[in-house]
Amino acid sequence: MDSLFSLLPPGSATDSDGMLLVEGCRADALAAEFGTPVMVVSETALRARAREYADELTSRWAKSRVVFASKAFPCTAVQRVMVEEGLGLDVAGGGEILTAIKAGVDPEKVVLHGNAKSDEEIAMAVEHRLGLVVVDNSDDVDRLESTVPSGRQQDVLVRIIPGVTADTHASVLTGHEGSKFGLSPAMARTLIARIEASPKLTMRGLHVHVGSQILEVGPFAESVAPVAALGEFPVYDLGGGLGARYTWVDQPPPVGDYLDALIGAAREHLPAEAELIIEPGRSMVASAAMTLYRVVTVKRGVITFVAVDGGMGDNLEVALFDQRFEAGLADRIDVDTTDAEFVTVVGRHCESGDVLVDGVRLPDARVGDLLAVPTTGAYCYTMSNNYNGNRRIPVVFARDEKARLVVRRETWEDLRSRDVE
Ligand code: LLP
Repeated sequence: MDSLFSLLPPGSATDSDGMLLVEGCRADALAAEFGTPVMVVSETALRARAREYADELTSRWAKSRVVFASKAFPCTAVQRVMVEEGLGLDVAGGGEILTAIKAGVDPEKVVLHGNAKSDEEIAMAVEHRLGLVVVDNSDDVDRLESTVPSGRQQDVLVRIIPGVTADTHASVLTGHEGSKFGLSPAMARTLIARIEASPKLTMRGLHVHVGSQILEVGPFAESVAPVAALGEFPVYDLGGGLGARYTWVDQPPPVGDYLDALIGAAREHLPAEAELIIEPGRSMVASAAMTLYRVVTVKRGVITFVAVDGGMGDNLEVALFDQRFEAGLADRIDVDTTDAEFVTVVGRHCESGDVLVDGVRLPDARVGDLLAVPTTGAYCYTMSNNYNGNRRIPVVFARDEKARLVVRRETWEDLRSRDVE
């Protein structure tokens, strides 16, 4: 039998009475203190993964750096951990710029993305002196040229479509021909020439990103040659995209294997003196967190539905990307579930697609039980929403047997506060 511990944040265990412990914090105590649903992040796991990425990259290519793709978990506390671990931040919008600044990032280490950056976002990038703006279209160049003050220069990268189709959900594919992100090599050539002639922009290099939740190394390596074909530059940002382990069957490559392939291709195609950037998001944070829910009702009919107090308001991955998650009851994680009842875990939202786990064995789930869903660290926080007047859930960091609130639960007043009539 697979143990949920292989999916829960590293370092999770059970207390003497069988209750789940994350970094020594009991699940029932976390639920009592912070309410449910609550996202619990192992701060140690988060830091360890950031260090692993940085060490594995620099050991293969000395002139290199990791920038965390903030979009995967854009709250100040997570960005601050990355900054403290020496990483830069990739941001993809005004709000992510602001939380990055609040997290204490050196603006020089920020990379701004976006396929439709607004005037305001370009102005924020210039005002905060962000290190790199990744140009996605010629309108970005127009906006930058009219925003950068005379006498100053903004470093830019140009995003290239490599024409690589990885095996992942269509919604998170970005490197294929026809992608809305980036420019075909032919279009890029024209724009690069324009940037090189611009008095306000400095053409620093190229960017490529093939997609997300990619569980094989081939597509990453394949994306390098099409970029190299555009000429030699001082910087190459080779994107993110490594998959996370959500289910028993997922076997994402270790960071080292992913980088062997990616840096192997870089050695073959890119100038040895270039600086390399990578921007992992999902694989950096997914496994560091889990979400705790309270079972609200159990309906035993044709199907046994175990309904919890959250759902697609705090985890859209299932409804949007058919992502499968696993789950376990927090005080019965160690119980052998081979012959346990087969149930469907659903959320509380008014949509039949509001399913958290479509088929899982849970030992006699009851109202009031705590349900732990592992691997919720990536994109759940940021894609959370107010459907059915849902209050977005809090985020708690656990470390050394202590828990601290880093994002509070939304209040009813927060929900009402934007309605001006
Ligand atoms: N760099 C760029 C330019 C990106 O667009 C992304 C993700 C990343 C890096 C980080 O990729 P990762 O390592 O996290 O795979 N909303 C979806 C995920 C969309 C990912 C978009 N881009 C979700 O909820 O799963």
